[in-house]
Amino acid sequence: MKGIICYCSGSGNTKLACWYIMGKIRNIEFDLFNIVKDGIPALEKYDIVGFATFTNFLSVPYIFQTFIDKLPQQNNKPAFVFNTYGFISGKTLKILDKTVTAKGFKVIAGHSLHTPESYPPMIARGRGNEQAPNEKEINNFNKFISELDHLTYYLKNCNELRRKKIRVGLLNSLMPAYSFTKARGDMGEKYVDESLCTECGLCEKLCPYKAIKCSPKPTFNMDKCYGCWTCYNHCPAKAIYTAKYRNAGHYPQPINQLKEKLKIQK
Ligand SMILES: Cc1cc2nc3c(=O)[nH]c(=O)nc-3n(C[C@H](O)[C@H](O)[C@H](O)COP(=O)(O)O)c2cc1C
Ligand code: SF4
Ligand code: SF4
Repeated sequence: MKGIICYCSGSGNTKLACWYIMGKIRNIEFDLFNIVKDGIPALEKYDIVGFATFTNFLSVPYIFQTFIDKLPQQNNKPAFVFNTYGFISGKTLKILDKTVTAKGFKVIAGHSLHTPESYPPMIARGRGNEQAPNEKEINNFNKFISELDHLTYYLKNCNELRRKKIRVGLLNSLMPAYSFTKARGDMGEKYVDESLCTECGLCEKLCPYKAIKCSPKPTFNMDKCYGCWTCYNHCPAKAIYTAKYRNAGHYPQPINQLKEKLKIQK
């Protein structure tokens, strides 16, 4: 038996959490699939599929939504849903559940993990939530993984698994689900400090929406941009800036506190 986790991770928090899940599950081996780089997976080879993403404006990132839309229709293949969030998750997990269920998957487990913020405007305002997840949140995450491990055990022994009703807390359920273009509008135009740009091409390579062309300095196609801040966060020279944010709040990879908390003890 084999599983696959299809993930979308702008700065690595979600990917790190996926490695943590994979390291703790004993009953099934998972492959990790980067939906931005790897295209569409051959799901026939897998007995269970995980869908893992970061929260983007209280919802699932547009690229993850389109990835799920492109998958072939399933016939009750077991799945689990997972998201990380820096401040408030809103209905993200429910939206993910609904999207995956509409594709014919049977969602058997789900969890949201509080993590440090990767959204530069929040970090720049001192709201980076560097301490997340706290002890209780880590314990809840571990409980979710144990539950998932048990479920994969039942799956291995040919038991029919029941669909899990995915719930979010009251506060989360009251949050609006923003349109996919809200983040683009909030981020606004992007600029490049040409004196800092080393023409490395990384921003073009990493943009999930193919909105950047480097020739050799980057130019941005605003119609294709979804305001994910990946180019801003990852530019090694910190040369990319917006009208409001310059040289502040970058989050290129998980911070050490999170790496330490999500370290797998051998
Ligand atoms: C463009 C953008 C939008 C975000 N929107 C939210 C949000 O609505 N709610 C929230 O709690 N966190 C939000 N975050 C924070 C991330 O979801 C969180 O830090 C997550 O762990 C990042 O995961 P990653 O490193 O795998 O991309 C946002 C981050 C970015 C870059
Ligand atoms: S990632 Fe930064 S340094 Fe590299 S090409 Fe883009 S703007 Fe220039
Ligand atoms: S241009 Fe930057 S912010 Fe816009 S989609 Fe690409 S990486 Fe994200």
